[in-house]
Amino acid sequence: MPKYRSLTSQRVNQLAPSGIRKFFDLLASIEGVISLGVGEPDFATPWHISEQAIYSLEKGCTRYTSNLGMPELRQELSRYLKDNYNLAYDPDGELLITVGVSEGLDLIMRAMLDPGDEVIMPDPCYVSYNPCVTLAGGTPVMVPTNQKNDFEVSAADIEARVTDKTKAILIGYPANPTGAVMPRDKLQQIAEVAQHHHLLVISDEIYARLIYGVEHTCFATLPGMKENTVLLGGFSKAYAMTGWRIGYAASSRDIIAAMTKIHQYTIMCAPTMAQVAAIEALRTGEPNVLEMVEDYNRRRQVIVEGLNNIGLPCFEPRGAFYAFPSIKSTGMTSEEFSEKLLVEEKVAVVPGPAFGQCGEGYVRCCYATSLADIEEALSRMKRFMTKHKKV
Ligand SMILES: Cc1ncc(COP(=O)(O)O)c(C=O)c1O
Repeated sequence: MPKYRSLTSQRVNQLAPSGIRKFFDLLASIEGVISLGVGEPDFATPWHISEQAIYSLEKGCTRYTSNLGMPELRQELSRYLKDNYNLAYDPDGELLITVGVSEGLDLIMRAMLDPGDEVIMPDPCYVSYNPCVTLAGGTPVMVPTNQKNDFEVSAADIEARVTDKTKAILIGYPANPTGAVMPRDKLQQIAEVAQHHHLLVISDEIYARLIYGVEHTCFATLPGMKENTVLLGGFSKAYAMTGWRIGYAASSRDIIAAMTKIHQYTIMCAPTMAQVAAIEALRTGEPNVLEMVEDYNRRRQVIVEGLNNIGLPCFEPRGAFYAFPSIKSTGMTSEEFSEKLLVEEKVAVVPGPAFGQCGEGYVRCCYATSLADIEEALSRMKRFMTKHKKV
């Protein structure tokens, strides 16, 4: 009998499928569901942004661009980062246009990690962080965070996990799934740990513009951190452009060159029409962003108050578009709660453990959906809570 080897790699075999995916398969089989599940804007891309891309197609602008991205887009992005953060990135060498932050994450992990290198990150965190590190041959090292500390990751907890294999710290604030935003002084403490141990900081700032009543600190603006930070940003959330697949990485010349090596062999360039749309977004999309943020803020207030009122205590999220209430009072696990809520009341939320062990006892509710749907979801959840009240 010949002995067959697995045709897929051990690295992939060992990877758990996304906890979110499983849930959406169940959701797709039920009718009339209100989904607080998917993490994307319910708005369509502002029309003037789409229109520029359509014009570009009409003009036959359908070829590859430079590997780094269109020069006009890099120039516009450089201006945007200067205007917003007073950071000067050279469009020729310090900026790379990517297929969303997703590609940026993958590129930096592959560009940076040798087998066994460690990357420290908060738990819970965005579903891709951990697998991106594993797929690049690295080892994710999780730092627990909790509601008591507003889901902020502490510099001391990070430092306690630094070993001689640690290569980087990966953070993403405003955070998915908690909506947490880190204040500047606490980010400064993390910067000091990074500098002391010569670590790179990868800062996923995809939600930078979705912020409510507090200030976003761009990590690269912290003293001495521009060269040692990989700033990942994108258009998906702020401009409602998830389907365009467009984002960017900003960092030192060496880091961007290393990421570009992989990008040029695997992707070549981000989609050309999406790059045209991104130029328009940066040039004229600001009023659209402000309008959407105002709308999200209204929904945020309604959902947070509503969840608290029905006995699901909710930490106040100051960024992104997620509420992360505790469901511990029900005595159910997050998965039981989410499954029962979906089957009995047709409301979809995501079980917290999809984002890491520390998500147990919580569910993620995305409020990037209409106010009417949020209100209906809350009323169904109220009925659910009354039915399952622990006596
Ligand atoms: C924290 C975080 N980073 C990155 C992404 C992916 O962004 P993009 O659409 O730019 O690939 C998401 C999408 O949900 C996210 O929540």
